[in-house]
Amino acid sequence: VQIGPLLLPHLGSARALLARALPYDAVSLVASEKLFGDNGSRRGVALGAFEGDSLVGVAAAAGRWLKLLAVAPTRVRQGIGSTLLKTIQAASEGRPLRVGDHPGNYLSPGLDVRYQAARLFFEHHQFREMGQVENLRAPLESNPLVTEARADALCRQLEAQRYIVRRAELGDRDRLLRFAENVFAPAWAFELDLALRGPRRAVHIALRDGSVVAFAAADGNNQGLGWFGPAGTAPEHRGAGLGEVLLIRCLLDVRHLSEGGVIAWIGPQAFYARACGAAPDRRFLQLEAAKS
Ligand SMILES: CC(C)(COP(=O)(O)OP(=O)(O)OC[C@H]1O[C@@H](n2cnc3c(N)ncnc32)[C@H](O)[C@@H]1OP(=O)(O)O)[C@@H](O)C(=O)NCCC(=O)NCCS
Repeated sequence: VQIGPLLLPHLGSARALLARALPYDAVSLVASEKLFGDNGSRRGVALGAFEGDSLVGVAAAAGRWLKLLAVAPTRVRQGIGSTLLKTIQAASEGRPLRVGDHPGNYLSPGLDVRYQAARLFFEHHQFREMGQVENLRAPLESNPLVTEARADALCRQLEAQRYIVRRAELGDRDRLLRFAENVFAPAWAFELDLALRGPRRAVHIALRDGSVVAFAAADGNNQGLGWFGPAGTAPEHRGAGLGEVLLIRCLLDVRHLSEGGVIAWIGPQAFYARACGAAPDRRFLQLEAAKS
């Protein structure tokens, strides 16, 4: 088995391998983004394990983040995963690798707890659990909390407080990204930009006196699945209901996508439960290699 660069012509076989190895992820739809998409400020690498012409393993990383690792189910326990991991580790310049939660371009925010073989594999390679995070999911069919009528009513209440809520336009891009980067994080601006340029432009903003004070986005990272996030309200405008109406407007935009309603890598669970009836959906381990 030879390790070499994974290139665009391998996308079809990589997608098929990933779909078999990762049944809890809708990876077919986003394989191209995970393997070959933009990683912001970090350098990405995509590797294949090849046996002759056939692909038997795939790995992708950006900086010190391992974004994907999978071995063909018929070829597990033969050391292929370990060889891919060591190759990625060698390129991470001595910094301890993390699994999954690459800011801006991630398949999932950690290792889904159900991937038992991978848990044991990472344990074998001395990765430590740094914490756990959850994805929530809001039902988008017949959910009385997620309707155009409710979004409109909430917008009208906010108008009385001098807030304007609307879909973001491309002309808002610069100031919106600046706001997300300055008040929150560069990776949020990166994901927001993906959503803004995406086919659904599922980005909604709140303005007061002409300035952006809150935003929410969906279908940025993992584009095509419809995941919600990122979202943020400037600290001095919290508590007015902006986050709720922006969330609902985004959810309405992605209600026809296969994973519309997934709220990824969440913060305040109680807020999402109340605002749109979201409930815990998936749990992930955040794993990091022990320092050598
Ligand atoms: C995780 C995965 C990549 C491991 O690949 P692999 O080629 O089978 O791994 P290796 O053969 O190098 O295993 C190295 C060691 O890990 C441990 N390990 C791996 N799979 C294991 C399993 N199913 N049960 C127990 N231990 C396991 C063992 O200690 C193994 O050494 P050993 O076989 O000498 O006992 C593979 O199981 C896989 O593709 N899983 C599905 C995809 C996935 O969950 N990816 C992770 C998130 S992206």
